[in-house]
Amino acid sequence: MRILVIGGAGYIGAHVAREFLDAGHSVTVYDNLSSGLVQNIFADEEFIEGDIMDFIGLIDVMRQGFDAIVHLAAFKAAGESMLRPEKYAVNNMSGTINILNAAAESGIKYLIFSSSAAVYGEPEYLPIDEKHPVNPANFYGFTKLEIERFFGWYDKLKGLRYAALRYFNAAGYDLNQRVTGLEQNPANLLPIVMEAACGMREDVCVFGDDYDTPDGSGVRDYVHVTDLARGHTAALDTLVRTGSSLTVNLGGGNGISVLEMIESARRITGKDIKYRVTERRPGDPAKMTASSEKARELMGWKALYSDMETIVSSSWKVYKLSKQRAE
Ligand code: WQD
Repeated sequence: MRILVIGGAGYIGAHVAREFLDAGHSVTVYDNLSSGLVQNIFADEEFIEGDIMDFIGLIDVMRQGFDAIVHLAAFKAAGESMLRPEKYAVNNMSGTINILNAAAESGIKYLIFSSSAAVYGEPEYLPIDEKHPVNPANFYGFTKLEIERFFGWYDKLKGLRYAALRYFNAAGYDLNQRVTGLEQNPANLLPIVMEAACGMREDVCVFGDDYDTPDGSGVRDYVHVTDLARGHTAALDTLVRTGSSLTVNLGGGNGISVLEMIESARRITGKDIKYRVTERRPGDPAKMTASSEKARELMGWKALYSDMETIVSSSWKVYKLSKQRAE
């Protein structure tokens, strides 16, 4: 099939594009390169530099005729979204409305959307399944939830079938090092730990060690980015097979603490990764773990690579390579 991957030059987008290419689809990436990287564009895909705020540009591209769109273009720093909601309102909300309208006008049937565990907010029980109440604790999560609601209406009114994939903590890199772009100014834990291992930063700040968790640091559900990417191809297959929209969690199924992550990284990299404990980060829950049972039932998806060892070692290979190239 012909797939348009919007935001396909970013960290997750590049892995998603790679997965569709590997599955034999033809891929066009549309990305404004604001955080996406030229380095993440593959030789066997078409690339169009463009912005989701450019409705005419979107229509022009979509009229080439695509079977499905994957939409990953968004700002994603939860903390920043609380300080600059207007940036998230315009790009994440208005940009997605442009995509929806352009897709409906171009007769595109299927849309796969990168939603987020941030739609749930503070957990009321664990693991979180899709029946868990949605109550975002930050503006970023609110934009993802509102977009899911738009999709519900466009499904009913325009016949656009969607898969909303609620990512938990994406981490790791392609196992064959085909994606090599490093995230710039990362805010997420593993890239920060990797930067410390490479000597690109002094140490890692551990945001609180007094949570109600076994070692006091925050526990999260890390899902290997290739597992996430496989979730997108599985979602498309499911949309085509069933003709019904779906909303599912994608998580690795293991709760890993910040200190456990640092410890694994020390062992795997052989580097003495320094850390210091600082204040808790506002809005951080103690623990988030996912039930991905619905994804298994509906799409036959399960995480294959989301063990700590694979996540950390696949990241380290890419960071080490990039360090060697820089030297
Ligand atoms: C993980 C853990 C931090 C950085 C975010 C989004 C969420 C999502 C996944 C995408 C927490 C701790 C972090 C650091 C630290 N999905 N930490 N020092 O906040 O769980 O989730 O990505 O949409 O919506 O909010 O991820 O990687 O920032 O944090 O101690 O320098 O690491 O407190 O316990 P988070 P994260």
